[in-house]
Amino acid sequence: MSKRIFVPDLIRKRQRGERIAMLTAYDFTFAALVDRAGVDIILVGDSLGTVVQGHETTIPVTVDEMLYHSKLVARAAQRALVVADMPFMSYQPGPDTALQTAGRFIKESGVSAVKLEGGVSVSSTIKRIVDVGIPVMGHVGLTPQSYHKMGGYKVQGKQSADAKQLLDDAKAVEDAGAFSIVLEGIPASLAAQITDNLSIPTVGIGAGSHCSGQVLVLHDLLGITPLGDEQPPKFVKQYANLKSEILSAVETFVADVSTGKFPAAEHEYKVSKPRSAQRRAAS
Ligand code: KIV
Repeated sequence: MSKRIFVPDLIRKRQRGERIAMLTAYDFTFAALVDRAGVDIILVGDSLGTVVQGHETTIPVTVDEMLYHSKLVARAAQRALVVADMPFMSYQPGPDTALQTAGRFIKESGVSAVKLEGGVSVSSTIKRIVDVGIPVMGHVGLTPQSYHKMGGYKVQGKQSADAKQLLDDAKAVEDAGAFSIVLEGIPASLAAQITDNLSIPTVGIGAGSHCSGQVLVLHDLLGITPLGDEQPPKFVKQYANLKSEILSAVETFVADVSTGKFPAAEHEYKVSKPRSAQRRAAS
């Protein structure tokens, strides 16, 4: 196993111009696979709400649910840095509440850092958490917890005033002491400008190729989408089509059970013969 990744390793990666690979995971099995495959950061995203829990948004996800899944992932990761998303309303009430929540994630789940959404408006909260020694990852642009304010999942920063606000937000996150920042759903040119304005690594999702790293939701990358889902969004590269693999495996199992093809002889336990009978058979 190669060396465990810490926050300073990620900062050095940015300084050396090496790209950072980040993926989400929500349970032990997938986290172990993602870790073994060599990602730098595993994010226990509050996308849990949509990809695992079947909600329409990330808004209903609770701290206790995130803590539970963060424990599973932290238990599996041997190399990658594990970051847990702070869910909606676990930090928005203010720095004191946010610090309590961040502390629970570090103490109870074993992750190494937390992530929260927002820019200038959460900078004092980020500072408060960082000041006690908890690494924070920021997240600006399309921030899913602001679903209702944005009017859905819409690309942000297309107008110049919004772009200027996002530049200010990203700078405020860096100045507050965040070690890295996710840039989600913004034009590639704006993500490039933000990346060039910051010294911390930027990790993009739907933010073009100039970021210091890239993140995807694991289920999108693997092509595991709920039934009836449309095409994945434009920014997703689907590296596998596990949905059809899973459907075909389960359909074959159902058919094998109904025809009696499964279990076959090789799947059955046999009764061993008593020793006296074995001796008689041998003589
Ligand atoms: O919740 C999540 O999975 C995220 C990523 C999309 C960055 O925040």
